[in-house]
Amino acid sequence: MLTKDLLLDKIEKRTARVGIIGLGYVGLPLAVEFARAGFRVLGYDVSERVVAELNDGRSHIADVPSRAVAALIKEGRFEATTDAVRLGDMDAVSIAVPTPLAKTRDPDMSYVLSATETVARSARPGQVIILESTTYPGTTREMLQPAMEARGLVVGRDVFLAFSPERVDPGNERWTTHNTPKVVGGITADCTDVAVALYGSCIERVVPVSSPEAAELTKLLENTFRAVNIAMVNEMAIVCDKLGVDVWEVIDAAATKPFGFMRFTPGPGIGGHCIPLDPHYLAWKMRTLNYKTRFIDLASEINSEMPSYVVDKVAAALNDERRAVNGSRILVLGIAYKRDINDVRESPALDIIRLLEDLGADVVYHDPFVPSFQEDGVRHEAVALTDEELKRSDAVVIVTDHSSVDYQRLVDTARLIIDPRNATAQTKPGQARVVSLSTMKPTMDSTALAPELH
Ligand SMILES: NC(=O)c1ccc[n+]([C@@H]2O[C@H](COP(=O)([O-])OP(=O)(O)OC[C@H]3O[C@@H](n4cnc5c(N)ncnc54)[C@H](O)[C@@H]3O)[C@@H](O)[C@H]2O)c1
Repeated sequence: MLTKDLLLDKIEKRTARVGIIGLGYVGLPLAVEFARAGFRVLGYDVSERVVAELNDGRSHIADVPSRAVAALIKEGRFEATTDAVRLGDMDAVSIAVPTPLAKTRDPDMSYVLSATETVARSARPGQVIILESTTYPGTTREMLQPAMEARGLVVGRDVFLAFSPERVDPGNERWTTHNTPKVVGGITADCTDVAVALYGSCIERVVPVSSPEAAELTKLLENTFRAVNIAMVNEMAIVCDKLGVDVWEVIDAAATKPFGFMRFTPGPGIGGHCIPLDPHYLAWKMRTLNYKTRFIDLASEINSEMPSYVVDKVAAALNDERRAVNGSRILVLGIAYKRDINDVRESPALDIIRLLEDLGADVVYHDPFVPSFQEDGVRHEAVALTDEELKRSDAVVIVTDHSSVDYQRLVDTARLIIDPRNATAQTKPGQARVVSLSTMKPTMDSTALAPELH
């Protein structure tokens, strides 16, 4: 039997052994999916803590309950290891390691490079290797393929190599690893066939594309689309603020159009491992080809200015009350980068806290999902969201609109609320003055807008 047919047969019979490199937000849910589909899965991670906890039946990823990990470990379907040599026993290996940015905003490919070296060291005929980490177009062909060839393996004949972007949306219960369609692009048609068969065994819908570059670019298009649209709506919030129009009312009204409009909402900035970073992978790649990706640059500029825009709102709101930011006690509510998750990576809340502290504010925070976090070597502990704390704070800034927070209590108890998320939209008026991203003026002075008409 041909190597490809052997591999397809093992996948169909679920006798293929699956290895996952990197057991984080992406790798662990994927490992669980393969294990649930009937494969024996080996997770490899460089972190001894992560490996020990998982083997103990404890999950560090909120979307994967510990009991699911514990059950799979008990059934012998999943095991974690720090021993890279064991990857040689795997028939399929998916790589899901981080792809952050360096301080210069250029791609930091050190994790992918290290994972490539790891997988290449134990690569053997009959394996399918799939890169999942978000990266610039060309990575699979330029980095992984030569590593396989250096081992004397012919890609498409001995080993099968593909890129398949992960689309996991942490905290999203409707769309999970299992039911979110998965795009796959192999180096050769046989590489695509094998990777499609592998993912098709545990994911509802697999979408083959003609090359790894098409798959790599698909992910970057998706996340650039989000970054650009969020920036556009953030700019619209600033426009509305200057015009004295309520941006939320305008968005709600525009969203009644049944075609040609997609709702995006403004906020204090963007965060997480994806939207703020991924477009820069494409911008960097295009710079090497002497092309400037203007939409990406502009979106990044606007989105990264939002924390400072929010801090200006805080300062102006305190000023209205004859108070300075300096010396005020400010409660930042929500530190995670988005609602109902515990991930603080790249969170705009971190910038907002730093900017307020630079101005001399006494900043405390509350987040039901993040009891403590470390930033620049400093450990921050959450305060309880008590009535005393709300009364004591000169201003409350709702940076993340977690759904478990009682916003009516906030409005009834706090003095001043800056609400860039519109979290208080459904509350009844209370004692707090609420300042939105765009503050509607009670009446518009039409003469100021169009004096020539009068
Ligand atoms: N988090 C998301 O929402 C999300 C969504 C889609 C795509 N992605 C992409 O998926 C990739 C992984 O992101 P993540 O959020 O899962 O990262 P993560 O930081 O949660 O997990 C990565 C894991 O890889 C391990 N690791 C690092 N280097 C390693 C190596 N050389 N060998 C083995 N293990 C190693 C780390 O210890 C960590 O446990 C990134 O490229 C990211 O852009 C992330």
